[in-house]
Amino acid sequence: MGSDDFQPIQGMSDLAPPAIRRWQKLEAQARIVLHRYGYEEIRTPVLEKLSVFERSIGDTTDIVQKEMYVLEDRGGRKLALRPEGTAGVMRFVAGHGQDFQDGRLYYIAPMFRCERPQAGRKRQFHQLGAEAIGTPNARVDAEMIAMQVHLLHDWGLEGASIRLNTRGEPADHAAVQQGFRDLLRPLAGRLCEDCRRRMETNVLRVLDCKQEGCREVVKDLPPVTSFMSEASRAYLKDVCAVLDKLEIAYVLDPGLVRGLDYYRHTVWELTHPALGAQDAISGGGRYGLKMGNREIEGVGFAMGLERVMTALESRHLDDTGEPGTLVWLVTLGDELLDENLELAQTLRMRGIACRMDLVGRSMKAQMRAAGRAGATHVVIRGASEAEKGVYQLKTMADGVQREVTLPDLMEILAAGA
Ligand code: HAM
Repeated sequence: MGSDDFQPIQGMSDLAPPAIRRWQKLEAQARIVLHRYGYEEIRTPVLEKLSVFERSIGDTTDIVQKEMYVLEDRGGRKLALRPEGTAGVMRFVAGHGQDFQDGRLYYIAPMFRCERPQAGRKRQFHQLGAEAIGTPNARVDAEMIAMQVHLLHDWGLEGASIRLNTRGEPADHAAVQQGFRDLLRPLAGRLCEDCRRRMETNVLRVLDCKQEGCREVVKDLPPVTSFMSEASRAYLKDVCAVLDKLEIAYVLDPGLVRGLDYYRHTVWELTHPALGAQDAISGGGRYGLKMGNREIEGVGFAMGLERVMTALESRHLDDTGEPGTLVWLVTLGDELLDENLELAQTLRMRGIACRMDLVGRSMKAQMRAAGRAGATHVVIRGASEAEKGVYQLKTMADGVQREVTLPDLMEILAAGA
């Protein structure tokens, strides 16, 4: 097998030790914050019917048109690997009648988008997302934004900015589309090819095109709110007022569109300056999704955890997780392996992490392994210790070694001394 055979598919990565410890720590901290706001975890399947995504995310969006991994199973059913978490959660909520009508759910899960891989853009990536089900309520939107700020704070990630905009009520959508279409038609010659197509299919996407020529055209257009109802403008004002009260800084960005069709009212994106071109660490907004004959309303966000990790690394906050007490049990003589394994089990059952070599390596090799694993304590036990009923306990921090009895050993290790 060539070395390529050992690589994951392009745009996908193995998450393995030691880096996985940082992920676990980040996730554990996040779960604490999410629980504080009343969110409970949901795990939906990675694979769903294609229709779950097509209808909710929108037929004309990039995700549905060109980024989904679509497959047919043996029964000829069209399925897709989930490109995002909201649609699957709403499918679940729709299937549970009134049970989750004001549910607060979160997920930490892999998502799949067949995009051209580049820095910060992967084909399998992980999102931490949260969804609060319920009808429009400016306070819930603001609280959702506040929760993201809280998460970043607890992770120690500073320097993110929040851009905020509105998509208006569903009733405004046609007026907004028509308003921009009318303004852009005479300027179509200055737009890129994609945007000339978008003008007819999803004109709002022209507003966030990255091409220089399109940006020039867009910068002179009026804000989306100018085509919206008074009620939509008032809703955005209410969200801003709550954010101000919570002292959360944001910038109103009339060009912020978001690439999914299910949004209405508040939309936002969090960016971080350490990230380069793909600088969005999080995106969210209020939405209404049609699932079968039900419409589910809610508000939510999803953070890209790979991007959060990259932003954290750039700030040199490289924390490898809680080391705690780690005992390495060194065995001198194969005949003691079984007895020592029994001791290792006793320690583990008492909540102490304990590792040992089970293949009878030399003392030197075992000590080296203990050092590599970052053991805080080494317990050495050979024939003479076994005969006397004692243990040699070495504390790695100061290198001091002493002879102890079993009760003492247990007490010292349990206290983490
Ligand atoms: P999204 O903006 O498509 O929104 O994705 C959210 C975040 O996922 C992005 O800000 C980014 O950090 C990360 N992300 C997206 N694509 C990639 C990629 N190819 N590689 C690495 N990271 C990526 C949603 O997915 C919505 N479901 C969010 C939402 C929840 N809205 C309401 N509720």
